[in-house]
Order: sequence, then structure tokens, then C-alpha cells
Amino acid sequence: ISSFGNKVIPVGYGELASGLVGAGRMAEPEDIVSWLELFFKSTPSLAGKKMLITAGPTRESIDPVRFLSNHSTGKMGIAIAHECASRGAEVFLVCGPTSEKVNAEINVTRIQTAAEMHEACMNIFPETDMAIMTAAVADYSIANPAQEKIKKKTDTMSLELIKTKDILRDLGKIKKEHQLLVGFALETEHEKEHALEKLHAKNADWIVLNSLKDAGAGFGADTNKISIFDRKGREFSFTLKSKKEVASDIINTIIQ
Ligand code: CTP
Repeated sequence: ISSFGNKVIPVGYGELASGLVGAGRMAEPEDIVSWLELFFKSTPSLAGKKMLITAGPTRESIDPVRFLSNHSTGKMGIAIAHECASRGAEVFLVCGPTSEKVNAEINVTRIQTAAEMHEACMNIFPETDMAIMTAAVADYSIANPAQEKIKKKTDTMSLELIKTKDILRDLGKIKKEHQLLVGFALETEHEKEHALEKLHAKNADWIVLNSLKDAGAGFGADTNKISIFDRKGREFSFTLKSKKEVASDIINTIIQ
């Protein structure tokens, strides 16, 4: 059927009506809708482009049962991944732990730690045209994670932390002329100044600023309020919108 140019939506995997487990379930309705949206987009503005997107938090082990992490849910990065795929891009998502659903057409690499995210991104980035780094990567990991569960023997305890590698900065160092790099900045004060510092320090082409001061923006919410800055210091500001609409604004701004 495919050899005639027809597109076939792949079946899902799981428990079947026969009671057996395997490939053969009806594709999830959301997956069918996203395939149809992709099919009917008349001029996909990212056709032929390969994109790397990072999303979600990372987890740094303290001992076998505990970790250091943050409140990121991955919603913003996954919304961007879906938006890019719906415009015809081939999307590689490197994603920390999240309960958010990722559509079947996205190539997902699941990671836990900042070091694993770094390694995955360094491997994938050279093959891509653009990277959008929405992940909330841990800035520090535990110097010596305990092999066994730490017992509560003392009234106070300290953990020694060591700085993780900055993925955006390292991609900025190997970025080629034809590649675009988009960073995110999450700030609570001097937002614009800090965002522009990050843009230049990490050799990004664009930086998307979220302020935790804006109600409805940031972690966990289904909405976000952003401003985008380019290397010339031009600012593009947007109102509070759903993360799906924000994803569309980001891609439209970059394409223009
Ligand atoms: N980032 C990254 N690797 C890290 C830390 C951050 O790739 N180890 C990326 C984030 O994905 C984001 C951008 O860098 O695109 C800015 O992240 P942010 O946490 O706002 O800034 P930091 O550089 O970590 O600086 P600070 O925490 O001091 O504000």
C-alpha cells in the first residue's frame, strides 16, 4: 500500500482483543489526529529540517532512593516538539522524566541525568539544522552519590555538589554556520539583562525568556508568557497563551 504513495498510520502495541499482547491495537486517537494534521498541512514550513529539542527536568542521584531535581514537567518542550513535527520537521526529542505524552512521530531519547542529556545532545546535534533547549538541566550533580541508602544518623548533613556541563554552551561551541541554536532562560529578577547575557555567553541565536514573576507562566502550567530576543537585542513579546500557541509563536518568530 505504501508503495503507491499512501501513508499508513502504524498500529499501536499492547493488549489485543484476542487477549494476546503485541502490535495490532488501533493507533491512539491523538496519534491519528496528529498524523492527519501533518498530512493536510499544505505548506509545512519546516519540511526537510531536522530539529533537536530538549525537555523536562533532569535527576541527579543522591543515593539509590533519592535525587535532586526541579519542577519542570516537560510540557513546553514537548509542545514545541509537536509543533515542529506538525510543520514537517524530523524531530529528535531528548527528554528527562515526564508523564506528558509524546506523539508517535517524534524520535525520543529518554534520559535521567544532566550528563546523559549532554551526551545524547552532543551526538544528535551535528546532524540537525536547529536545536531548541527548553530542558531545566540541573546545574549541579552530587559529587559522590552513595551506593547504599543514606541512614539518618546525624542532625545535619551536607552534600558536596559539582557543576554539570552546560549543554547549550557546548552546542554553541560546535555550532556550524548553517545551524541555529535557541536557548531558554528562566529568571526571577533582572530578566532581560540575564537573558541577553546567556544568549551571548552560550553563543545562541535566540533566547526565549520566561519570568517566574508572571502569573500563569513557568513550571507545570498549561500556559506561558514569553519574550524572545535575538543577537541584535531585538525583543518580541507575547501575551499569556496556551503552551501550544507559545510553541507556534516561537517557531513563527524564528522562521520569519
Ligand atoms: N542549560 C543547559 N545545560 C545546563 C544548564 C542550562 O543546556 N547544564 C540550558 C537550558 O536548557 C536553557 C539555558 O541553558 O536553554 C539557560 O538555562 P538557565 O537554567 O536559565 O540558566 P543557567 O545557565 O543554568 O544559569 P543560572 O542557573 O545561573 O540562571
